[in-house]
Amino acid sequence: LKQSHFGLFHHLRGISVVHGDINVLTPKVRSYVEDKIDLCQPEKIHICDGTDYENSSLLTLLQKEGTIKALPKYENCWLARTNPADTARVESKTFICTEKKSEAIPTPSEGVKGSLGNWMSPSDMNKAVKERFTGCMKNRTMYVIPFSMGPVGSPLSKIGIQLTDSAYVVASMRIMTRIGQAVTKIMNNETEFVKCLHSVGTPADGKMEMPSWPCDPERTLILHKPQANEIVSYGSGYGGNSLLGKKCFALRIGSTIAKREGWLAEHMLILGITKNGKKRYIAAAFPSACGKTNLAMMTPTLPGYKVECVGDDIAWMRFDENGQLRAINPEHGFFGVAPGTSNSSNPIAMSTVFKNTIFTNVAETSDGGVYWEGMENEVDESVKITDWLGKPWDRKTSKTPAAHPNSRFCTPASQCPIIDPQWESPEGVPISAILFGGRRPVGVPLIHEAKNWKHAVFMGASLRSEATAAAEHKGKVIMHDPFAMRPFFGYNFGQYLQHWLSMETRTSNLPKVFLVNWFRKGGDGKFLWPGFGENCRVLDWILKRLDNEDCALKTPIGLIPKKESLNLEGLKDIDIDALFKLDAEFWKQEINAVEKYFEEQVGKDLPSEMKEQCEILKKEIDSM
Ligand code: GTP
Ligand code: MN
Ligand code: MN
Repeated sequence: LKQSHFGLFHHLRGISVVHGDINVLTPKVRSYVEDKIDLCQPEKIHICDGTDYENSSLLTLLQKEGTIKALPKYENCWLARTNPADTARVESKTFICTEKKSEAIPTPSEGVKGSLGNWMSPSDMNKAVKERFTGCMKNRTMYVIPFSMGPVGSPLSKIGIQLTDSAYVVASMRIMTRIGQAVTKIMNNETEFVKCLHSVGTPADGKMEMPSWPCDPERTLILHKPQANEIVSYGSGYGGNSLLGKKCFALRIGSTIAKREGWLAEHMLILGITKNGKKRYIAAAFPSACGKTNLAMMTPTLPGYKVECVGDDIAWMRFDENGQLRAINPEHGFFGVAPGTSNSSNPIAMSTVFKNTIFTNVAETSDGGVYWEGMENEVDESVKITDWLGKPWDRKTSKTPAAHPNSRFCTPASQCPIIDPQWESPEGVPISAILFGGRRPVGVPLIHEAKNWKHAVFMGASLRSEATAAAEHKGKVIMHDPFAMRPFFGYNFGQYLQHWLSMETRTSNLPKVFLVNWFRKGGDGKFLWPGFGENCRVLDWILKRLDNEDCALKTPIGLIPKKESLNLEGLKDIDIDALFKLDAEFWKQEINAVEKYFEEQVGKDLPSEMKEQCEILKKEIDSM
């Protein structure tokens, strides 16, 4: 046998392994990999070890292929430009595959198109996979990425094996998850893993529009088979579709595992907040591009407060033996929205992202840096800017944005200056409060508290928000986005609600639940609330509530701050009445819309408790 740089030179199914050691793969993993080699027919195999040497050779390769370019203004930072047809998640091409349709999605009313996920039958899935994946890795390298979601070895963590033909995906997975030797070391043949197959694909006519960013937008398909713990993603290199540990595993497959095992996999940030030496942890679910990363890294404007970040996108939570809800962040990096991030809105993100980061679809500056909408004060006006498409761009005259609205940074969480000391704690951090929130320009107050657990579940279920650039939706319509999970449910939403309701039977120590809205607008179309660091004032009120302070006023929709109990010291020109105004007509319409949504979209799968909550609310609102 020939000795390679990394040990014995091996073959798998006759294909040479050019990097890594196949002996680190358990027999089960190896048999999964062999199966997919036969299907995809790659030219070479690369087993990822997670070393720095591996990473720098992949970055060199990506540069040579033109996928990334160096950003010499910073340390080890890179810019990737995608094919303009591959810039966001594609919800219409994302499917849950189960034997019975009703396991995956609720049954909508006659003539109504379901909006709570897409279902595919196992036979259609097999057919779709065969069509797309047969020989899809010819002339390409298949990378085998062993990864852990959650701290390696934590009882709350889960392992995955991602196969991909994209080095960009490997480099990004290395930031977003824990990969390589650390993971294979703790695996044995009993170790379960989620099977993740990914290919950027090749268009059916074989013509690659942009060789530096191979993809097949026409045939893109993101498939999940919960029963087999399996994910198959074809045609897209964009993070949300290709970094399978994130949305596909940690949320869609994760939620189905969580249902089986009695815990929760949620689209939530986790933050720690300290006031007068007392620390509490809060989890918060906002839809994509509605402020999770910003809240998780917030710099409080009020003196005496400290916020620390555990995670900015996903929380895995379960009640421990003492009935305390505990959460881990299954990720190891931040895949954050770039536009809007600045030293004034999110200085912590700004001091995190300028080393060891892969930027995707942001604009580039003539001095080798990055630029996006919101960075006007950070970049000198004399610096020339090239937009995300690679075209010259001018601040004054250009009519299109410099950076794609869904452009992102992919950066190690450990670099965050306020990363929580407990962020990798294997048992997770104790959660005292859960927040829901979204973009609601009218009607919804800055904050209100749920009356009880059933009402809290209703609050999550009835969450709505203005559409954003995070997915393919057009325009600023108000969309239903229950639990901020609509694109990420791995099973029937009716059963998901049942699962949340059942938490009441698991503990006597349920977290308090709140709904926040930083995005209410005044008559002039401007935000009524300054947001960002000032949101600590809202968190402060939440802490008072956690301490059972008598600072809440009952209203038909829940509890709002009593006059003077929301600390507005030092804030000028806040129209507090407009922020908290409750309009009976608005809320009547809101409840009707939610009720209609439940009836049409969830139908017979809707737990009776939700219908009851509608009735209670309607009665209370009628008395307004
Ligand atoms: P995903 O990562 O896609 O799940 O989104 P996210 O929830 O992490 O959203 P993010 O924090 O990146 O915020 C998205 C956009 O909302 C950015 O343009 C922010 O500037 C804006 N935003 C965040 N917080 C606030 C706030 O308190 N007030 C206002 N007005 N805008 C905010
Ligand atoms: Mn997200
Ligand atoms: Mn985010």
